[in-house]
Amino acid sequence: RVLILDFGSQVTQLIARRLRESGVYCELHPFTITDEKVREFDPKAIILSGSPAFISQENSPRAPQQVFDQGVPVLGICYGQHIMCAQLGGEVTGSDHREYGRAFIDVKEPCALFDGLWEQGAREQVWMSHGDRVTKLPDGFRVVAQSEGAPFAIIADDTRHFYGVQFHPEVVHTPHGAQLLENFTHRVAGCSGEWTMAAFRDEEIARIRAKVGKGKVICGLSGGVDSSVAAVLLHEAIGDQLTCIFVDTGLMRTGEADQVVTLFRDHYNIPLVHRDASDLFLGKLAGVSDPEQKRKIIGGLFIDVFDEEAHKIGGAEFLAQGTLYPDVIESVSVSGGGMTIKSHHNVGGLPERMNLKLVEPLRELFKDEVRRLGHELGLPDSFIGRHPFPGPGLAIRIPGDITPEKLTILRKADQIYLEEIRNAGLYDAIWQAFAVLLPVRTVGVMGDERTYDYACALRAVTSVDGMTADYFPFDHEFLGRVATRIINEVRGINRVTYDITSKPPGTIEWE
Ligand code: XMP
Repeated sequence: RVLILDFGSQVTQLIARRLRESGVYCELHPFTITDEKVREFDPKAIILSGSPAFISQENSPRAPQQVFDQGVPVLGICYGQHIMCAQLGGEVTGSDHREYGRAFIDVKEPCALFDGLWEQGAREQVWMSHGDRVTKLPDGFRVVAQSEGAPFAIIADDTRHFYGVQFHPEVVHTPHGAQLLENFTHRVAGCSGEWTMAAFRDEEIARIRAKVGKGKVICGLSGGVDSSVAAVLLHEAIGDQLTCIFVDTGLMRTGEADQVVTLFRDHYNIPLVHRDASDLFLGKLAGVSDPEQKRKIIGGLFIDVFDEEAHKIGGAEFLAQGTLYPDVIESVSVSGGGMTIKSHHNVGGLPERMNLKLVEPLRELFKDEVRRLGHELGLPDSFIGRHPFPGPGLAIRIPGDITPEKLTILRKADQIYLEEIRNAGLYDAIWQAFAVLLPVRTVGVMGDERTYDYACALRAVTSVDGMTADYFPFDHEFLGRVATRIINEVRGINRVTYDITSKPPGTIEWE
C-alpha cells in the first residue's frame, strides 16, 4: 500500500485515482499526519502531492520527517519535490520564470523512475504548474531531466529511492504520466498491482462497519447512481441499520420516482421512506428566477423535509451521502481562489443542521469508478449506466421561473430526446444528455396557424468526470429527427436548438 500525503493541490485525488487504475491500493492523508501514523501505516512507498502554497511563504506546510526516515521510496510531485529538497538540505526559491500548462522536458540521464519508459535524449510533454523551483539539490541527488523553466524537472537519489518531479504526472495532460507513476509504484517500490474494485468494496464495507458500529444510519436517495451505490454498499455493510429517505421534489423526470421506489424497496428490500413533497417545492419556487436562489431554496427545503422524516424515524447517529470527489472540489473551491461556481446541494448543510456524523463511502471516487463499484455490487447495468442527474433536477433546466406547465412540457421533450438517443444506440457514448426549456417564446407556423411557443435547447456532452466536457457531435439527420418529433408531439414547444458549448467556458447544466 502506498501513502499519499495531500498538501492541498486541486489534483491530488488524481494521484490516488491513477494508482487505483494500475491496481495499487493507496490512501490519501493530510500532510499534518504524525510521524507515528506514518510508521503505523507501514507504506511500501510515499507520494507527496502538489500544493497551492509556496515554500518561500511563512508557515508553508512541511512533511513529517518520518517520510524520509521510513526507508521506502518517496516521490515528490511539484510542491512535494520542493518539500523534499527543502527538508533534505537543498534550496528552493521563487522564480520569475513561472511555468503553467504544457511544457517539454529533456531526459538527460537514465533513471529507475522511467526505466523502460523513456530513453536518454527523449523529449516528453508534461504539464507544469509552479512558481517556486529547486535551485540547489540536497546531497545524494542528481538531475535526470530538465525543462526550460525547470532545470531540475526530474531529480533522483538512487540510493534512497527518492525522486522529485516538477511537473504533474497525475493529470492527463502529461501523456505518459500514468505510466511514470506505475513505474514508481510497480518497479521502484515493488507493488504487485493486484488491487481491484472488488477489494475496494470489501475494504469500504469494513471501514463502514468500524465507523458505524451498531449505530443507525440514514441515507438520502436521489435516484442517481451515486446515492444508489452508496445505499447498496451501506446495506451490504450494516443491513437494516440503514434507512433510506427519498424526497420527491416534483422536479424529477417522467417515471423516475417510481423506479427508485421499486428498485430499493422491492428489489433490494432496503427500508425506504418515500415522501412526496412536490407541492411544497413547487410552491416555494413559484416566481423565483435566479439560479442560485433556486438552488438555495431547493437545498434548504430538501434539508427541512429530510430532517423531518429523519426525526420520524428517530435515533439516527449517522448520515450517509453519495458525495464524489468532483463534488468535493467543485463545491469547495474552483480555480484555486475559493470561489463557488455553483452550490451543489448534496454537499454541506445537512450534517451541520442535523448534528449527525457523516458517512461518505464514495468520497474518494470518480464517477466511472462509482459505476464499476455499482457493478461489483450487482446493481443493474441499465441503472448504473444512467447519465448523472443533478440534485436540483429539472429546476435548473428551466431558466427563469418554474411552473407545473413548464415542467410538463420539459418532461415530454426530454423523454423524446432520450428515447431517440437510446434508439440510435448513442446513450452510452454520451456523458449526459437532456433538454432545457428556455424562457423565450418564438413565433412559428404550424399548418396554417401562427404559433407563439417556447424554444427548447438540447444538450449532450462527452466527459470523463464532469469537470470538463465537449458537446456531442450528433449528425444533422439525428438532430432534425429529434426536433421534428419534439415540435410535433410536445404542445408548447415550436423551436429546437442544439447547444454546442464545451465546458469550460460553459457548464454542463444551464444554471
Ligand atoms: P456543471 O453544470 O457544474 O455540472 O458543469 C457538472 C456535473 O454536476 C452535475 N450537477 C449537480 N449535481 N447537485 C448535483 O448532485 C447539483 O446541484 C448539481 N449541479 C450540477 C451536473 O449535472 C453535471 O453532471
